[in-house]
Amino acid sequence: MNGKLAAHVVTFGCQMNEADSEKMAGVLRAEGYRLVSRPEEADVIVINTCSIRAKAEQKVFSLLGRLRDLKRKRPGLLLVMAGCIAQQWGEELLKRGRGLDVVVGTGRMARLPALLRSVRETGGTAVDVIEERAADHPALPVRRSSLKAWINIMFGCDNYCAYCVVPYVRGREWSRPLEDVVREASSLAESGYREITLLGQNVNSYGRGLSPTVTFGDLLRELDRRSGIPRIRFTTSHPKDFTPDLIAVLRDLPTICEAVHLPLQTGADDVLGRMNRGYRYDDYRRLFFALKEAVPEVAVTTDIIVGFPGETLSDHRRTLAALEELRYDNIFSFSFSPREGTAAWDLPDDVPREEKTRRLLEVQKMQQEISTEKNRALIGRRVELLVEGVSPKDSRRLTGRTRGNKIVNFPGRSSLAGKFVSVKITAAGFVALAGEIDE
Ligand code: 5AD
Ligand code: SF4
Repeated sequence: MNGKLAAHVVTFGCQMNEADSEKMAGVLRAEGYRLVSRPEEADVIVINTCSIRAKAEQKVFSLLGRLRDLKRKRPGLLLVMAGCIAQQWGEELLKRGRGLDVVVGTGRMARLPALLRSVRETGGTAVDVIEERAADHPALPVRRSSLKAWINIMFGCDNYCAYCVVPYVRGREWSRPLEDVVREASSLAESGYREITLLGQNVNSYGRGLSPTVTFGDLLRELDRRSGIPRIRFTTSHPKDFTPDLIAVLRDLPTICEAVHLPLQTGADDVLGRMNRGYRYDDYRRLFFALKEAVPEVAVTTDIIVGFPGETLSDHRRTLAALEELRYDNIFSFSFSPREGTAAWDLPDDVPREEKTRRLLEVQKMQQEISTEKNRALIGRRVELLVEGVSPKDSRRLTGRTRGNKIVNFPGRSSLAGKFVSVKITAAGFVALAGEIDE
């Protein structure tokens, strides 16, 4: 045991939050903390929170209850709430006797060490959720993988989908300058990283507001040409801003992986309208098939919400028909959850909970069959994998991902970790594939 204070970071939510947790870990390490993986050993526990659905919030508060018990046994322990719930509720979180010492917002992560210091010195509490456009963006993250890294290319969201809390907890949209992103990617390449994922709530509107104006396609072209990273991914795309230029980039550039996450949300036009999504189903399907035609290998995934206010049975059937027509590689599906402050909060949440669950299961069952069929269609094909290491489920196998981001397990030497290999697919299930290495 050395004299350094120990910090533990827990993450809820999306990749944006995972990237933020890496940054907060980096900020704490730069301040002299050592990072520990067990909460019981920590002097500071940071909970990076998600408020996208009520269930995500419930998970956070039940963890917080358990940590408050831990704090009774470890009186010097400081509890920090960061992320989206912290940003949304700020000071109020300290009032409710939850045992929190610090509340820090999504744009204020660099202030975390100073807030902790002030709490240690004064014995009080500290809050900083001030929203500034210059959302800080600490540059020394502690990455959990030595192969794959996230790069934030933009922050915030201006789309105001009626159900979504993100614009309220992540602020207005702004893009990082192109050269900053290219520099970060190049330095990751020099340190041995093989894959980056560009992160933004709507990466397709990257570059709006920058001068000179650039587009997301421009950024991808520069990264392909200059970064030295062999695999580049991005998420999330918004159908209303997905351009023919981006389709050409996916078709033509060797480093840009053929994997697109393109949230549809629902197949019913009137629901899309109430959601304020900015497209009709027919616009979406045209885009989808243009992409498939130009890039036949592309793996497309989506998000679906069932039970949005006013969703009728025939609306729901339109969503099922869309899944049948588009045959996604995979989907993420959710029951609508009203979030305070959003436009949909004021609409009657009129689809009963059991009916939402029934619709959700119907969607998931249909997709499970489609995903399995699509994976099985790869049997006998050769694919390029980036080998991530030994499979966590079977120590005799390695695990890697295809360019389409599918998991493939195969027998092989652990020295292949970090390398690209060609594998022939021999079996496939809903979640993962199995293969044999080509000699
Ligand atoms: N209820 C249910 N699902 C939601 N999502 C966002 N907000 C809500 C909500 N209030 C889903 C959307 C989005 C994904 C990240 O989470 O499908 O694309
Ligand atoms: Fe939320 Fe819509 Fe912005 Fe995505 S595009 S973060 S769903 S408001």
